[in-house]
Amino acid sequence: MTMLYFDFNATTPMSHKSKMAIQDVLDQFANPSSRYRLSNHLITLIHQAKESVSQLVGGLPERIIFTSGGTESNNLALHSVFGQLPAGQLSRYHAICSAIEHSSILEPLRWYQKQGLKLTIIEPSKTGRIDLDTLCNAITPQTCFIALMAINNETGVIQPYDELAYRLKGKGIHLHCDAIQAVGKWPIRCFDDIPLTISFSGHKFYAPKGVGGLYYSQQVKIYPLLHGGGQEQGLRSGTENTLGIAGLAAAAEEANEKLIQRFDYCREMRVYLLTQLDKLGVNYHLNGETNPEYQAPWTLNISFPGIRAEALASRLDLCHGISVSLGSACSNNSQTPQRSHVLLAMQSPHSYIDSALRISFGHVTEWKAINVLANALQQETQHLLSISGEQKI
Ligand SMILES: Cc1ncc(COP(=O)(O)O)c(C=O)c1O
Repeated sequence: MTMLYFDFNATTPMSHKSKMAIQDVLDQFANPSSRYRLSNHLITLIHQAKESVSQLVGGLPERIIFTSGGTESNNLALHSVFGQLPAGQLSRYHAICSAIEHSSILEPLRWYQKQGLKLTIIEPSKTGRIDLDTLCNAITPQTCFIALMAINNETGVIQPYDELAYRLKGKGIHLHCDAIQAVGKWPIRCFDDIPLTISFSGHKFYAPKGVGGLYYSQQVKIYPLLHGGGQEQGLRSGTENTLGIAGLAAAAEEANEKLIQRFDYCREMRVYLLTQLDKLGVNYHLNGETNPEYQAPWTLNISFPGIRAEALASRLDLCHGISVSLGSACSNNSQTPQRSHVLLAMQSPHSYIDSALRISFGHVTEWKAINVLANALQQETQHLLSISGEQKI
């Protein structure tokens, strides 16, 4: 079947191996915390899954905590820094984050800000990348935490997380990297000589939803969000999601094996899609990095001047069966439609923001789907432009 799904940054389909790994443990219902033999296999499964997943971040398996996904992992990292500060002391501390972080970073940070935390938000360049000098100039003697994502979910712009980690050596500042759009697709490095946390989420790399994790370096003390039965060395209570963990491990192994191959495939696809659009004479503007080194190839944040993105996305869906996103799918839950905070921070003109689609794909996307997408975009942009032209008359 040709996949006309172009929203891989929102979520990915489960891989065959991930499904098979889940199927293999479907009947192994025992609680991993129990002490009988029935549980032994599940304890081993969890340990082995940590081995597989730790290879994606190059760290030690015992420093992985399995969670319910990216949102929980980000909250856990923040809570580990701010939750353990003495009550009423937050105003003595300073945090820095980029303006383009996901809401699961921005919202908890704003919550702590309301409790007194000093917060500096760093705006990106017009191409969506954070400038390291600007970020580091914001560091004060009170700075205890910096959040910088690895790859932005709306634009696919790769952020200078590695260089920041180098610059923070010896400073004792906790760096949190939301690597949810990177782990499983892009080589992420962990640094054990700084206080560092890295979050990831299975459903972004062909594992099931509801499972993810947090990597924490040796210098980090995790302060649990969930207290109870003491699972995950007491750092995340709750009976382990063994099915999800089995699927996550299988997807992680595949990603590890095929990271470069998958990346190269997406790079070729991006070039092909843009070439097709050019050949068909579609008028578009790409929001994001012009330097391909800083741009994840599987994401295109693309504006079609003169067109409402909602109208275009609906027509692609209804007339062609094509699924694309308007900016971030994670913010689609908001009651009142809001302009993308990422494109606003990049100072994109409103005309670009209101006409922007996020097209994201993966190694399972077929070439012929790209042809269908390019043709549909040409047909529908022309149609919508002709209607708005008629309305003006
Ligand atoms: C960059 C980023 N962070 C966090 C999340 C939240 O992850 P989850 O859906 O696993 O809670 C997402 C989801 O799209 C994301 O793209």
